[in-house]
Amino acid sequence: MPRRKARVVSSPTASLPPCPGPKLRPFRHQDASIKWGPRLDTARPETGSQGFVFQAEIASRQYAIKVFKFYHPKSNKFYWETYLGKSYPLRKALFYTDPFYAECRAYGRIKETRDERKVKANVATRCHGYLFLRTEDMNFLRREAGIDFDTNVIDESLKRALGGNIQVRAIVKDLETGQTGVQKHNIEHAWRNVSLLNSLGIYNRDIRADNFMNCRIVDFGLSWTEPHAILDNADVDEAREQRLGDCAQFEEMAELEGIKTTAKIPPFRYNLRPRKKTWKAA
Ligand SMILES: Nc1ncnc2c1ncn2[C@@H]1O[C@H](COP(=O)(O)OP(=O)(O)O)[C@@H](O)[C@H]1O
Ligand SMILES: [Mg+2]
Repeated sequence: MPRRKARVVSSPTASLPPCPGPKLRPFRHQDASIKWGPRLDTARPETGSQGFVFQAEIASRQYAIKVFKFYHPKSNKFYWETYLGKSYPLRKALFYTDPFYAECRAYGRIKETRDERKVKANVATRCHGYLFLRTEDMNFLRREAGIDFDTNVIDESLKRALGGNIQVRAIVKDLETGQTGVQKHNIEHAWRNVSLLNSLGIYNRDIRADNFMNCRIVDFGLSWTEPHAILDNADVDEAREQRLGDCAQFEEMAELEGIKTTAKIPPFRYNLRPRKKTWKAA
């Protein structure tokens, strides 16, 4: 009898994604009922967004929940194939390109370093784990908030890549108060946080004002966290450029926001020394 291939089944007890590198644990109130509140992401255009952010109450506490649309790596194949080659498995490409997994990997690294007490400060908005939405929550959001999860992109190959689990995925975060953005008086603090994330092998790659709240980054949907297959396969100069990208984006953001600063932003660029750690993706 032919041996059946092992299948990775994402159960709410598994940390995700199932690939080398940091992983995110499930949210501890996986089965608790969710009292959905208002959308928090109404200020940004919906087109091109990775999902939807809601305020919500779970077990008597307020959170921000980012609910992700489905993403198919074939929509971005041209880009990652350049680095990973045409024979790179789609399932593995998903782990390094899906915005949900990007957030899992970044928050997984942040948690690791906090547990090891390497980082004490809240360098990013705190994350409480991932959540698979129950059918009743999916239906509620479809019906009451007109949410389209892009389930139309799901085909057999994506379903296989997701280990057969096509529940809608979400990430539970602290609810930040106040407005998005950076101001003259706190831009240096915001940069310190980005720079610290870079030193942990997390490159945000989407540095702009609406991804900051209280000097902290709220959005890791485009981030790359080491070890990352694309960084490992890019040539040395390209990988270096990618690793320094946040600094350039930060400077652009400051300029766009009209913030003239004496903050030590440019010198940090040259402070990104080669890391002692060697990270390697499979
Ligand atoms: N933890 C949070 N607390 C409060 N508001 C948030 C939080 N996370 C996101 N938001 C709001 O939602 C917006 C979109 O969230 P984000 O994660 O950046 O999604 P997208 O990937 O669609 O850009 C943010 O610009 C911010 O206004
Ligand atoms: Mg964003």
